[in-house]
Amino acid sequence: MKENKKSKKTFYITTPIYYVNDVPHIGHAYTTIAADVMARYKKLCGYDVFFSTGTDEHGQKIARSAEKVNLTPLELADKMVLKFKNLWPLLNIKYDDFIRTTEPRHIKVVQEIFAKLYEKGDIYKGEYEGWYCVPCETFWTETQLTDETCPTCGKKIEKIKEESYFFKMSKYQDQISSYFEKNPQCIQPKARRNEIISFVKSGLKDQSITRTKKSLKWGIDVPFDNNHVIYVWYDALLNYITVAGYNIDNEKFEKYWPADVHLVGKDILRFHTVIWFTMLMAAGIELPRMVFAHGWWTIEGEKMSKSKGNVVDPYKMIEEYGADAFRYFLMREVSFGQDGNFSKDLLIKRINYDLANDLGNLVSRTIAMITQYFNQEIPQSGIEKEEYDVELENFALKNIKKYYTQMDNLSLNAALETIWQFIRRTNKYIDQTAPWILGRDSSQKERLSTILYNLAESIRLSAILIYPFMPVKAKEIWEQLGLESDLEKIRLDEDASWGKLIPGILVKPGKIIFPRIDTKKKELQKLQEDKSNIISYDEFKKIDLRVGKVISAEEVSGTDKLLKLEISLGAETRTIVAGVKKYYTAEEILGKKIVIVTNLQPVKLRGIESQGMLLAAVGKDDVVLLTIDKDIAEGSKIQ
Ligand code: MSP
Repeated sequence: MKENKKSKKTFYITTPIYYVNDVPHIGHAYTTIAADVMARYKKLCGYDVFFSTGTDEHGQKIARSAEKVNLTPLELADKMVLKFKNLWPLLNIKYDDFIRTTEPRHIKVVQEIFAKLYEKGDIYKGEYEGWYCVPCETFWTETQLTDETCPTCGKKIEKIKEESYFFKMSKYQDQISSYFEKNPQCIQPKARRNEIISFVKSGLKDQSITRTKKSLKWGIDVPFDNNHVIYVWYDALLNYITVAGYNIDNEKFEKYWPADVHLVGKDILRFHTVIWFTMLMAAGIELPRMVFAHGWWTIEGEKMSKSKGNVVDPYKMIEEYGADAFRYFLMREVSFGQDGNFSKDLLIKRINYDLANDLGNLVSRTIAMITQYFNQEIPQSGIEKEEYDVELENFALKNIKKYYTQMDNLSLNAALETIWQFIRRTNKYIDQTAPWILGRDSSQKERLSTILYNLAESIRLSAILIYPFMPVKAKEIWEQLGLESDLEKIRLDEDASWGKLIPGILVKPGKIIFPRIDTKKKELQKLQEDKSNIISYDEFKKIDLRVGKVISAEEVSGTDKLLKLEISLGAETRTIVAGVKKYYTAEEILGKKIVIVTNLQPVKLRGIESQGMLLAAVGKDDVVLLTIDKDIAEGSKIQ
């Protein structure tokens, strides 16, 4: 990509920095794995690679999450950042720098750029009147809305009217349009580029970039105005230059900037092209080479959400299936840029068919034959080549070439398909040449030797090509072939050509690299897990269930979920905050006799202490309260 002054090829790739209000899920893992794959691939191509990731720690969303659990925002961030930092190495991800937006190095850059644009006249003070979505940390104007819900996430939005600093984004309308025209590669995939271009054409408005401290304290201070904090997206986007050394380590910044690829999810592409690009134009900093937006995962066909309880936890995936198999599935299952569907069944199929059958068997059969017929020593390839040998070699070379093009275009799943075509072609070569038959006839030793050399060579090449995707498994294959060089340090231009395998090396038969997943055993395990959910009567008795009557009900403002209820239990009245607003209006619920858990630890929801829980049946699309069959006194015990 960049050929720079130091005559070294560099490649700078980034992931979004993740909000610390929640634990990592499949979406976070997906982008970060993809970035790791590209970083490893580019290293094999001889690039000096810089790969950054991190966490986005300011803003209202974090402030509110912290409040709910009685922590300061920084305490929450300090706790949650570990969930990300601990996950990445377990997923075999090797980044070069991890940035937190609360670090002094970042605060300095954000304030410097803010002051610079203010002095230039590109930031001015005004008043913002409009809407705001806290979960997406997005400002919305009236014209962009159809009702009081966020067009991106569907959650309820809030009205804001306050003093604000604005960034003159409108000033850059023409400049950014012509930039997109001249640099069509800068937004990928193409369909998404068109969306952005038409968004810009519809007219850029100035962007509100601060909040008053009256409404939000948790942010970076505007350097010259103590009453404002900087808008979290304005702060977060700048992480990409901070981590590359902007105004801190100029040599490093010169070397790596502009970023070659910002990998993002499709939902945050607009921030990364329109806002980010115009900010950089205003600051006179070169624009990134490319922003690539990947698609979203649904889970068993449904949108992933906490309320549905279907969030895929990467830690669990690693434990159940192994990091490299999970990496393989995510990269292989869908075309990079499109949406995809995750299910355990699909994952197990990929593991059993692609990894255990196609690749795992090829490795174990080949190593077993080299052990049996040549005493573990990789044999010489004979001078005479037969048609099958030439075909295999040509196939390998053709697919390696294809792989380079696909990897360079971030067509990651296509590159994996190319490798698997080669692996399947190699398995076919075994069927065509039937080495186990030749093994019975000593006069065929030379032919057998050529065949086994070719098989070992195909495996060596496959290990190199899969290394960016499955670094640990590739190393295991490498080691079973008896190779001692460091796979991380090999160079594709030197090593990924036919015939580099040196005969005479001793293979090291080892454990099965990709064990099959026994689906029957899995089902049984699940049954047993379900059984282990059984509780004793004594345990059940610990739950104090009572009949309660709703004597007052009101909506909790600022949420589309919560109702605040006063419940009479006869001798006492409790306040309960319940997430049933979508299913019951305050009027509907008033007067009902329902079932209450009374001895649950109280929690604070939206600043209100909830002193119990009501019971309800949760269906696919509905929630229905448990009511009492005949009238009975409030406070009656349920057992
Ligand atoms: N903090 C911002 C990014 C700032 S970058 C300067 C943010 N953080 S996030 O924690 O919400 O991370 C979101 C990332 O996860 C996005 O790239 C988003 O597209 C991705 N995903 C969230 N859910 C996803 C799926 N279900 N599937 C795939 N990716 C998804 O946004």
